[in-house]
Amino acid sequence: MNMADSDEMMLHLAARGCIGARDMEEADIVLLNTCTVREHAEHRAVSFLGRLAKWKSAKKGRVIIFAGCAAQRLGRGLRRRFPQTDIIAGAKDIDGFGGILDKSGLFGAAAGGGAGAAGAGITGLVNITRGCSCRCSYCIVPYVRGEAYSINPDDILAAASRKIAAGAKEIMLLGQTVNGYNYKGKNFCSLLRDIASLKGLLRLRFMSPHPVFIDEEFIKTAVAEPKISRHVHLPAQSGSDKVLADMKRGYDRRAFLRKTEMLRGAGIAVSTDIIAGYPTETEEDFCQTLSLVDEAAFTAAYCFKFSPRALTPAAALAPLDDKIVEKRLDILLNKVKTASAAAYAAQPGTKQAVLFETPTNGRTSTNFWVRTSKKYAAGELAEVEIKEAEDTILLA
Ligand code: 5AD
Ligand code: SF4
Repeated sequence: MNMADSDEMMLHLAARGCIGARDMEEADIVLLNTCTVREHAEHRAVSFLGRLAKWKSAKKGRVIIFAGCAAQRLGRGLRRRFPQTDIIAGAKDIDGFGGILDKSGLFGAAAGGGAGAAGAGITGLVNITRGCSCRCSYCIVPYVRGEAYSINPDDILAAASRKIAAGAKEIMLLGQTVNGYNYKGKNFCSLLRDIASLKGLLRLRFMSPHPVFIDEEFIKTAVAEPKISRHVHLPAQSGSDKVLADMKRGYDRRAFLRKTEMLRGAGIAVSTDIIAGYPTETEEDFCQTLSLVDEAAFTAAYCFKFSPRALTPAAALAPLDDKIVEKRLDILLNKVKTASAAAYAAQPGTKQAVLFETPTNGRTSTNFWVRTSKKYAAGELAEVEIKEAEDTILLA
């Protein structure tokens, strides 16, 4: 999502005559687009901003833009702490970013277009919803990105068509609860069908869906449309009914597993996000998460230590001892590694369509990363025979 937002901000800069620099030494402007979903991400962004003071004073006229979710959360206080910051643009300001640049007086007038910004690449990122109204108890996103809303489908189709015309072969639809899309009654599946029909598109992905919106209609839509990726990233967060209820996720373990079975039954691989050490998580709850990893046969899982975030209900709970959380994360990471290795090990002998991102590397529809000995054109979709599996790469 931040990459998509960065692309959008780059377009506004490009419309005002800016072009991408090779490195920071060559650059006149640094735009720092930030995340605040965990404390660590925010710390890194803020310490980078601190280090930029030296960069700025080394050459006259340099500009620092601090943008995104951490900018939204920390707001104007940042400018007092870091007077070198020229522009602060929060995550809610993406749509108004052009106006913010103009108001700063640091840029020339927008000349429109700015198409040359970043080049499209193989994957075109397209936001279809913004914000989130789920209010999971640990999550800061609704506070920094605001309530969920769906973008007009005409604008989405136009954005996707522009990316395809610029060379994208794959469209990745983005939103915090992307499959909750609803614009005046037009739902996610209907939008998927519209985008899949665009000429020149080879593959259609999306991130991240919420488990509660995975239903029969989605399975049918995906099965009927081969361009839709056979991979869904479905955040579980925990395998314990009690913790899921405390997190206010809106589903229990059984319901989540039912969704993963529906997906796998349709040949769709499932990966996930898991939080270790939620404040109410007991050893028994954690074991439930470990067994969920076994049962759901995830092809990959991103695991995080619980991080208390200001404003969220979970931040008011007494945290677990950090040593316990570290240990649980370690055990979980090992479990996930084994599960993922098993998923990769099951692939040799199959023939799969790979969308090449470089001449020798690409992804299967199920989102396995593949390296080939033969060379292909970047952007080509080709059937290859998988010969071997290493930990997180297939060889063909
Ligand atoms: N602590 C740890 N992980 C979190 N995530 C969201 N909020 C937190 C938090 N406070 C994780 C969730 C989500 C992913 C993007 O980040 O697993 O799916
Ligand atoms: Fe955060 Fe995702 Fe829950 Fe929304 S659905 S509150 S973005 S974890």
